[in-house]
Amino acid sequence: MTAQNTGTEANNGAVAAATDHVRIFDTTLRDGEQSPGASMTFEEKLQVAALLDEMGVDIIEAGFPIASTGDFESVQEIARRSRNSVIAGLSRASFKDIDRCAEAVKPAAQARIHTFISTSPIHMKYKLQMEPEAVLQHVSDSVGRARNWVDDVEWSAEDGTRTEFEFLCRCVEAAIKAGATTINIPDTVGYTTPAEYRELFKRVRETVPNADKAIFSVHCHNDLGLAVANSLAGVEGGARQIECTINGLGERAGNAALEEIVMAIRTRNDVLPYTCSVNPQYMMRASKLVSAVSNFPVQYNKAIVGKNAFAHESGIHQDGMLKNAETYEIMKPEDVGVKATSLVMGKHSGRHAFREKLLELGFELGDNAFADAFRRFKDLADRKKNVYDEDIEALVEDEISTQGEMSKVIALTVIAGTGGPQKAIITMDVDGQHITKEANGDGPVDATFRAIREVQPHEAKLALYQVNAVTEGTDAQAEVSVRLQEDGRIATGKGADTDTLVASARAYVSALNKLALRQKQTMPDALKAG
Ligand code: KIV
Ligand code: ZN
Repeated sequence: MTAQNTGTEANNGAVAAATDHVRIFDTTLRDGEQSPGASMTFEEKLQVAALLDEMGVDIIEAGFPIASTGDFESVQEIARRSRNSVIAGLSRASFKDIDRCAEAVKPAAQARIHTFISTSPIHMKYKLQMEPEAVLQHVSDSVGRARNWVDDVEWSAEDGTRTEFEFLCRCVEAAIKAGATTINIPDTVGYTTPAEYRELFKRVRETVPNADKAIFSVHCHNDLGLAVANSLAGVEGGARQIECTINGLGERAGNAALEEIVMAIRTRNDVLPYTCSVNPQYMMRASKLVSAVSNFPVQYNKAIVGKNAFAHESGIHQDGMLKNAETYEIMKPEDVGVKATSLVMGKHSGRHAFREKLLELGFELGDNAFADAFRRFKDLADRKKNVYDEDIEALVEDEISTQGEMSKVIALTVIAGTGGPQKAIITMDVDGQHITKEANGDGPVDATFRAIREVQPHEAKLALYQVNAVTEGTDAQAEVSVRLQEDGRIATGKGADTDTLVASARAYVSALNKLALRQKQTMPDALKAG
């Protein structure tokens, strides 16, 4: 297999070091999707990849092909459909992993194999149980194997920031000698600080004799809340690729957030004089899509894409904003694709108008999903006086995240009040069969969840139950998130409805379905990468 890739430029070290262009490497579908509860279906992964490709992401890490058949197939299909981006797959240092990864990325016009091994003393001793010299040999062998398949090979030193400097330099040199075109030094455990990370890249690039033959990459986790700051510092130290995820999705505290990195470079280009190809107008759309398919809500005060990121509540701020927006606004909401809240449509709006609105909000639905969403919109418009963009978004996100699930809520009646015990009667469609059950509970939510358990017996424990109002007013839709946990597996479901209990039931059932899916495609712990 040959791949046209960024190798030419990478092989010309002088160009790589001199350029101010920073490549954006998105790992939402690999490091992001690996975080507990964030798993996505095949279709959802294709949707996210298509958007990343369209918005100008240079490299999409599409998955970890050896991890499961599902991962392999989604990487392969993303590779087939990619238009502009390089498609990367992750592999450990074994030949079996690398060969499987090569097969998955093969259909891409621009394919990359990303192989990694741990290099820190603690990882080598306890995780790998290997001597440093054996690790070093693996570096050369794995990169060499990958280069037999593609010209574009990335090598990562897992737990790089806790690796002894001299050993790190020997590994980097060996990787480049064996043909690696990108060298990634991850802060796997989110431990480093900006000054330290900047210095690490500077020193490694100064010390390793063949450093000018590769592009250096940052990959930061957010355990101390420093992932974005560290990434930008690494670029100041000479790195020219940033690995990040939409919404900062990722294990534990997450990875560096793509939208924050792109907007920091654009907004403070005076002190961060770099360029990148990502079109910021797509930020909000990408954030919403990833939040919907991963079922990870975006915190309200999240930079760039949070609901409140551009809201000015205090009187002094509002006064300043009215006089001149720049008094308190360093970015324009429209630059990142935020649209002003608008009253959209009512019960007389037709299919055509609804489809146009969905496109404006960044959603493209297949025929079945569209028909379901339209039916729910009409139903909502009958019950709710004003239907806003946010209402439609919540409804469609609910529709996207429950598409193709094996069971769904058909009807729910709850008897609640001070008298107790509260009672719920639920009808569900399970694999095409309608089943009705009832249960009493300690409160209406408890009764509803117990009734679902009667229909679909399970042992999962409720790990999170969260309700948000989508808009203002007592007729607002409730958006409910439910996280379930069973045998170490976690799944999150979301549901939206003007009736909080219906939204709760939908969210619970969606989480149950995702848990069942996860059970089928569980990745063994040993296969998890940092
Ligand atoms: O955090 C990490 O070290 C990783 C590597 C596999 C690149 O995700
Ligand atoms: Zn990582």
